[in-house]
Amino acid sequence: MIYHKHDAVIVGAGGAGLMAALYASKEVNVGVISKLYPTRSHTGTAQGGIGAALGNLEEDHWEWHAFDTIKGGDYLVDQDAAEIMCRDAVGIVLELEHMGLPFDRTPDGKISQRPFGGHTNNVTKQPVRRACHAADRTGHMILQTLYQQCIKNNVQFYDEFQFMDLLVNEGRVVGCVAYEIKTGELHVFHAKAVFFATGGWGRLWNVTSNAHSLTGDAPAVMLRKGYPLEDMEFFQFHPTGIYKMGILITEGVRGEGGVLINGLGERFMARYAPTLKDLASRDVISRAIYLEIAAGRGINGQDYVYLDVRPETVNRYFDEDGKKNPDGTPRRITAADIEKKLPDIADFCRTYLGVDPVKQPMPIQPTAHYAMGGIPTDVDGRVIVDVDNSVLPGAYAAGEVACVSVHGANRLGTNSLVDLVVFGKRGGIAMAQYCKQVDYGPLPPNPEAETRRQLDALLSRTSGTSAAAIRRSMQDVMMRNVGVFRTEKLLTEALEKIRDLKHQYQNVYVADKGKRFNTDLLEAWELGCMLDLAEVTALCALNRTESRGGHARDDYPKRDDVNWLKHTMIFKQGDNYRIGYKPVVITKYQPMERVY
Ligand code: FUM
Repeated sequence: MIYHKHDAVIVGAGGAGLMAALYASKEVNVGVISKLYPTRSHTGTAQGGIGAALGNLEEDHWEWHAFDTIKGGDYLVDQDAAEIMCRDAVGIVLELEHMGLPFDRTPDGKISQRPFGGHTNNVTKQPVRRACHAADRTGHMILQTLYQQCIKNNVQFYDEFQFMDLLVNEGRVVGCVAYEIKTGELHVFHAKAVFFATGGWGRLWNVTSNAHSLTGDAPAVMLRKGYPLEDMEFFQFHPTGIYKMGILITEGVRGEGGVLINGLGERFMARYAPTLKDLASRDVISRAIYLEIAAGRGINGQDYVYLDVRPETVNRYFDEDGKKNPDGTPRRITAADIEKKLPDIADFCRTYLGVDPVKQPMPIQPTAHYAMGGIPTDVDGRVIVDVDNSVLPGAYAAGEVACVSVHGANRLGTNSLVDLVVFGKRGGIAMAQYCKQVDYGPLPPNPEAETRRQLDALLSRTSGTSAAAIRRSMQDVMMRNVGVFRTEKLLTEALEKIRDLKHQYQNVYVADKGKRFNTDLLEAWELGCMLDLAEVTALCALNRTESRGGHARDDYPKRDDVNWLKHTMIFKQGDNYRIGYKPVVITKYQPMERVY
């Protein structure tokens, strides 16, 4: 066992982790543990933009952004948190620009902004250009920019270290345990505070935009330790993943004018969202795609539709919608615009599909994309452990792994990047203050013992079921039964299946017994985390007998504010779970019907 000591340890090196590291490292000594080399983190795949009401191309206000976020989240958003996020976004985007982030520019040199789903001018109700972007590589640029800043600030990185346990002693966090992937050694990190920024868990589903690493390890560990997870039933399907592969095709395509087309050649979103059409919020569009497919209107009757950004199609619809440039000339898109503003998308489609989006429509289907729920926190990133908002001293979280809750039941596009920079920064600052006020707590005896027990159990079997087989079955059942549309029957079946898979997991077999880069062992360990999260997702979805945002119950099709305007908090108790509730924070936006 190898021992380290840092005031603060951050787990995860995506945008939230790096932002927290950057701010905490101005005051205290920081170590960052990352499963991946930091610039390979999943923030790098966020494509289309980061929302901030800069108003560079047209009138905009952070209050409009806040309202869109709350409405988009189907009123399950904690409104105080959304107000902070949308207000602070404006300054933080400028701060990123000053750090050197290479945003695209308007002709007069300002940060360029494009429309995105659900972002509107609150007066005209029309889409507003709010997504600040660096071509279709915005997250990638954020990651590179923040990583450079962290290196400059002497943050110490532990690359390719897998977090495995949180150490809590005498009622406060005292460190964590990680596994070094290169050597198979366990490392104990003694710290005053631990900050979770580990991202989501889209790998629970078999069609997902999420990277291989997104397996929900930190929330699963928290759950097993008896801490709650919030709003786990809300998982977003992004409408436009590459058919069968799930790889993200940015909403920026529709921001640039792209349209969704069914097997009859119709622009079907006009039926479901007459005002915003292809720029309605993601939950609305994903459901519309499923309904078109179910009605036999997929392409050639199959289970996909087209996303069409060809200039000939887009310009025709611009004319039909009367879309104009700021100088009053008709809006136009050209092949050169697609290459310049959507270069990665064009590349992905050519590489993975053999489809050239300048000349051909792209086959797409909804893809599991984003966890709205997660580890509950307050607006300073402090981890909450009960329905009364008590905190666990020394525990922090931000970004997708956390539920603060700014996304409520459905996140608007661009708001993941906003969330991670705003709450990464706030959490990093709050954590540094905390670390300056307390001494190191004592480590428990044998701090790595529980991790060692888990790994030894996985390695000791000489036969059994492969992790790959169990994982595939879990992903299939999650896709089929805990997807865009849900019912009591589907969810009950899913729970039975997941519990059966958990039973099989007791006998999971790891063939590789070695120490160096034993990904077989790690994947088996991660699968245990995913099965726990799959179980609580299905359980919370079964429990919530209404439809709201990304949680659409066919058997309870209406939103029910009387009974369900509240956050779910699920706790593990022995082999069972207990569900509690927390009120939604309402400031000035009373819940209303969502019309797009
Ligand atoms: O569509 C996109 O570019 C994704 C962005 C997001 O999830 O916010």
